[in-house]
Amino acid sequence: MDFMIGLSSIIYKNMTTITIQSTSPEVTFKLGQVIGKWLSGREGLIFLTGDIGAGKTAISKGIVFGYGYSGRVTSPTFALINRYDLDNRSIFHMDLYRLSDIDELYEIGFDEISTGHYPVLVEWPEILNNEGYKPQIIIDIMRTADHEKRLISLTSTDKDFIDQMKAFEKKQSLSSV
Ligand SMILES: Nc1ncnc2c1ncn2[C@@H]1O[C@H](COP(=O)(O)OP(=O)(O)O)[C@@H](O)[C@H]1O
Ligand SMILES: [Mg+2]
Repeated sequence: MDFMIGLSSIIYKNMTTITIQSTSPEVTFKLGQVIGKWLSGREGLIFLTGDIGAGKTAISKGIVFGYGYSGRVTSPTFALINRYDLDNRSIFHMDLYRLSDIDELYEIGFDEISTGHYPVLVEWPEILNNEGYKPQIIIDIMRTADHEKRLISLTSTDKDFIDQMKAFEKKQSLSSV
């Protein structure tokens, strides 16, 4: 089997995972900023998994900011999809929680979006996983007993992202975020 899906985790062959502890929404935002910089010049799906209130939208705001967009970023819970345009590139942010049928997604132009040269952040990506879409990175956020503490894991099978993840992990262990 190529991959399996659990409640909030997807397991791929040859994947690398690093786990980072976030102690506050600000730390999560900063981690998002770092990831957003990695996405410069890249394209493809970024899956965000974790319960409601875990921080998927919070980290997405950091990612969009780190990618270079400094305007207001809102949750796409109702819009389904938000698009942020920079001078010569864009980044998309989707929330598929309310999506009941994959066809709804194609109706709003998902085909074009997923094959375009943009990073596409996806909250509640399970339906895409079931359709066989593969992400560049999976960001899974787990709550802990401490209400401001989160365990954030980054998983990828992409060599460049893995190198960046490992370099970040190494730097982190030398100095805290
Ligand atoms: N370490 C943390 N990282 C991210 N969010 C946190 C953290 N601690 C507390 N929070 C709070 O958790 C909530 C996360 O909400 P949100 O990002 O909308 O979740 P989701 O999109 O996963 O449903 C926010 O109210 C945020 O302030
Ligand atoms: Mg959200």
